[in-house]
Amino acid sequence: MSRSAKDFFRPLAVGAPLPVREVPARPSRAIHFFDPSNAKMAGKVPGMVGTVDVLLGNLEDAVKADNKVAAREGLVRIGQETEGLGGPDGRSQLWTRVNALDSPWALDDLTTLVPAIGHKLDVVMVPKVEGAEDIHYVDRLLAQLEAKAGLDRPILVHAILETARGVADIEEICAASPRMQGLSLGPADLAADRRMKTTRVGGGHPGYLVRQDPVDGSPEAIGAARATYQQDLWHYTIARMVDACAMHGLSPYYGPFGDIADTVACEDQFRNAFLLGCVGTWTLHPKQVDIARRVFSPSVEDVAHARRVVAAMGDGTGAVMLDGKMEDDASLKQCLVMVDLADQLGA
Ligand code: GLV
Ligand code: MG
Repeated sequence: MSRSAKDFFRPLAVGAPLPVREVPARPSRAIHFFDPSNAKMAGKVPGMVGTVDVLLGNLEDAVKADNKVAAREGLVRIGQETEGLGGPDGRSQLWTRVNALDSPWALDDLTTLVPAIGHKLDVVMVPKVEGAEDIHYVDRLLAQLEAKAGLDRPILVHAILETARGVADIEEICAASPRMQGLSLGPADLAADRRMKTTRVGGGHPGYLVRQDPVDGSPEAIGAARATYQQDLWHYTIARMVDACAMHGLSPYYGPFGDIADTVACEDQFRNAFLLGCVGTWTLHPKQVDIARRVFSPSVEDVAHARRVVAAMGDGTGAVMLDGKMEDDASLKQCLVMVDLADQLGA
């Protein structure tokens, strides 16, 4: 159902129940970042349309200050000229990450992009969101710009969780506007803000581990070599984000995995996020796109098992035994998550 731009320009009802979202969730397993001021990266965009769920023109970090205007203008050009990119019928969605709201560029980013390519732009990702006030600001600004441009579809908003205050304010951020589409983890900025002692962009750390118990309390056993298990540095924040998103009907995403060469660890990190409830991730290199598509799609085996449970559970109540395992109303719900995702992805 299309709405007039006037409908988007409404008083905010903070704390009130969110209206049913009118823009259905679309597959977004890989949000592929490109720098629109980088001719090589920008040149690849037309060829990626239809092969990646989301193409995101990045204007923030990783774009040099001297290139901010060129990146913004490059994104306008790409949005205007690229067939099949963005909008309700796009074969890939078009997102952007604008500059931080306390930077000299964010206002110009929005006032340039919305009139020029607002009809193509599906989601605006806002970095370093600290509280509901950041989302209110973007929401109001978008409402004005959409009304002025006569757009008939709201541009959605995505917040990156990358400050301690942002994590603390997560519920208010999720509830701040019906435009909220989702949240991503920003592990690099978040690590710096928390004063964590890792210099990696996402992923694990060999120092963050637990050690198997010694066989007894003797000094030999305590000093002996014992198995160690590396832990996921990001487990807490991802789980926190997934809970908040589930509660507010939003989509949670893992963020960047900076070690492009380590495709094995990248896949592990993506899979942890998928298992915990994330729907997708950022990709910084084309080889991460294939990993993301595979990891954030349910496996054929899991879907086949889920469909068997759904069939075996009949009216959905009671308990049945399948392959020696108990299935009941609750495990049916778990299986329906898998089946719904498979149906959404056509998998
Ligand atoms: C992403 O923006 C990050 O800070 O990790
Ligand atoms: Mg960041």
